[in-house]
Order: sequence, then C-alpha cells, then structure tokens
Amino acid sequence: MSFHPLMDYGKGMHQSQRALADEGPAFVFTAENLATLEDICSRYPAERRKSAVIAALYLAQRQQGYISRNAMKAVAAAIRISTAEVEDVVSFYTMFYQRPVGKNIIQVCRTLSCALNGAERLTDELQKVLGISTGETTADGAFSLFEVECLGACDRAPVVGVNDDWHECQRPEDAQKLVDGLRTKGAASLTGCHLHKEHS
Ligand code: FES
Repeated sequence: MSFHPLMDYGKGMHQSQRALADEGPAFVFTAENLATLEDICSRYPAERRKSAVIAALYLAQRQQGYISRNAMKAVAAAIRISTAEVEDVVSFYTMFYQRPVGKNIIQVCRTLSCALNGAERLTDELQKVLGISTGETTADGAFSLFEVECLGACDRAPVVGVNDDWHECQRPEDAQKLVDGLRTKGAASLTGCHLHKEHS
C-alpha cells in the first residue's frame, strides 16, 4: 500500500494538458518589434541566436495577447529554430499563454510554502470573488485565474503573481481587496518587495 496521497490537480492546470495551440490569426511581428528583436539577438553570438527565444515570445505575447501557433511559427522563423523548439519553451513556462487571457492574469502559487500557508483557500476565495474556476477568464475579460508552481518569493507566502509583478502574504480573506485594488489602482495595489525597494 502506498502512503503517497492522491493529488487532485483540478482543472485549468498547465501540466498534463498538452494540446497543440490554435493556429490563431495570421501573425507578423510589427516593424518595431522586429527591430527590437534584432537588437536583442545582436547581443548574442550568431550561433547562439536562439538564446533570444524568451525575449521573442514576450514580444509576440505583448503584440497579440497570447501565443498562437502562428505566433510560434513567426518566433521560430525570426530566431531560426524549429516551431517544435519554440513550443517546448512556451509549454514549459507558465507566463506564456496559448489562448486569449484576461487583462489581469492572477497566478496563485500552490507549491509547498504557499500551500502550507493557505494557498488553496486563497484560490477558493479568488474563484468565488471572480465567479470563475482556475484556468478561466471573467466574462468582462478583466481577469484570468491560474494556479502555478513556485514564484520565487517563498518567505512571503502565499504569493500571487499578477501580470509581470506579484503580491505577497496574501490572505484568503483579502481576495476581494486584491481584486478591487487591481480594478481601481492596477499595479499600484501590489506588494511585491521589488516594487517598494526604494522606499524601504
Ligand atoms: S512556494 Fe510559493 S513562492 Fe515559492
């Protein structure tokens, strides 16, 4: 008999749901993004051009809002690697989205420190406040909710990633406050330590 618990990973997780991304609309980098990408690539030796793949994916995601299969093909062509290699990167990192997401992307860390400090209850509260389940987007397109693995601020658990920033020591009872703050003040409502470094 195994003593390992059965883990219910729920739905909406990034893992074990690997499916090919939608083709999406035709994707061509804007001239500005292409110039930015070439500038980034120029910082690497020519034979290491593929080192810029994450930067290229960020540019594609900012341009289109998510990474479609056509966007992967454009990144592959620009970086001169295969689409499969690009897809490997996209499917590994939880900050890349293979379908349209909301304006604010909330990611609750569910790894050990955060799990021990109530991340699961926090996710439950956020689902109630937003009226969606993990992996979904609100009808007004304002929020998407995901569970992710360690966000690297374990001493301030539970940690919630919001877009490119994060919110620390988030208690389940403050879920409404977090959502309201994002609606009214945006990133200014977040408590990520790096955001307040100059003032400490
Ligand atoms: S365990 Fe949650 S940030 Fe590391």
